[in-house]
Amino acid sequence: MQLEEFDAQLSALSQEAQEALAQTQRKEDAIVVKNGYLGRKGKMQQVMQILRELPNDQKREAGQISNTHKQAIERAFLERMQTLEAQELERQLAAQTLDVTLPARAVAARGEHPLERVRRELEEVFERLGFDVAEGPEMEEDFYNFESLNFPHDHPARDMQDTFGLKDGRLLRTHTSPVQVRTMLAYDAPVKVISPGRVYRVDNDITHSPVFHQVEGLFVDRHVTFADLKGTLEHFAKTYFGPDTAVRFRPSYFPFTEPSAEMDIGCIFCAQQGCRVCSQTGWLEILGSGMVDPNVLTNVGIDPEEFSGFAFGMGVERIAMLKFGVADIRLFFENDLRFLEQFDFERGIDTHDV
Ligand code: PHE
Repeated sequence: MQLEEFDAQLSALSQEAQEALAQTQRKEDAIVVKNGYLGRKGKMQQVMQILRELPNDQKREAGQISNTHKQAIERAFLERMQTLEAQELERQLAAQTLDVTLPARAVAARGEHPLERVRRELEEVFERLGFDVAEGPEMEEDFYNFESLNFPHDHPARDMQDTFGLKDGRLLRTHTSPVQVRTMLAYDAPVKVISPGRVYRVDNDITHSPVFHQVEGLFVDRHVTFADLKGTLEHFAKTYFGPDTAVRFRPSYFPFTEPSAEMDIGCIFCAQQGCRVCSQTGWLEILGSGMVDPNVLTNVGIDPEEFSGFAFGMGVERIAMLKFGVADIRLFFENDLRFLEQFDFERGIDTHDV
């Protein structure tokens, strides 16, 4: 192939990418379009394969040509992101009316909500291990919540018995795992994040609330092994629940991790002697985890031959219930001051310092 043809093909693709970007209405879509062209398996990259066949004296020029076209896409992407961001802000402002003359309601200053405290403490433990914090939307698409995470079409979790569906075909995310996919799509590998946030399931009893919180973790890099998963999570358990905390891993199943494991900690109420809280087993289930399934990496354009990773997810309420000895999950959401006033963290409560 001649240089002119190489130039023409890349130029056409760049044009096509810029037009597609101009059509996007949401930042997520702009990211997907950009990755479709510039990502490791993107359309530009495919044409770039031809570079190798060019005679040496033309390679340098070809490299410059391709950089120019790639940069044009990159620029168009950044501009589009800014425009979409601005539009979003515009919409939010338009929807708000603000009466600055309204006198403020008196607030009784209080400490942190116990769930907020646990979320912050969990973030602190993992931030010290080099994890960044990433967030994602609570109204989510099937693609991110299930499809890209390797859930088969007839998987029971997709059943509307568990999932709140929205009229427009989206859903309320049932876990924070979709943030794994969004983060990998946006940042590629290597990536090391935790994602705290609200999740929803059709469930309601003393240990289940239709809205609750999870903290997700994801680490993808070269040579990440199951030993890294165990080391990281054991370190977390000992930092958070005390240095003498025992941990064990039990085989489990999640569609998006392989192998999968659940982590238990030795019961912190009975020193593993067996009590009501641990149903006489001496162990408390704390989180789900596993090695990121190669299919998930492939779905986001990361080469599973080059990269591997682990992920985990835990329920914030469950940890708060264990840590503070709360028996009914609904207490966290009722905003009853008689409950909340018991968490005066300034005065100190008997917890292990993080
Ligand atoms: N998303 C899973 C759940 O909600 C937890 C999990 C996260 C498991 C990450 C493995 C890896 O049950």
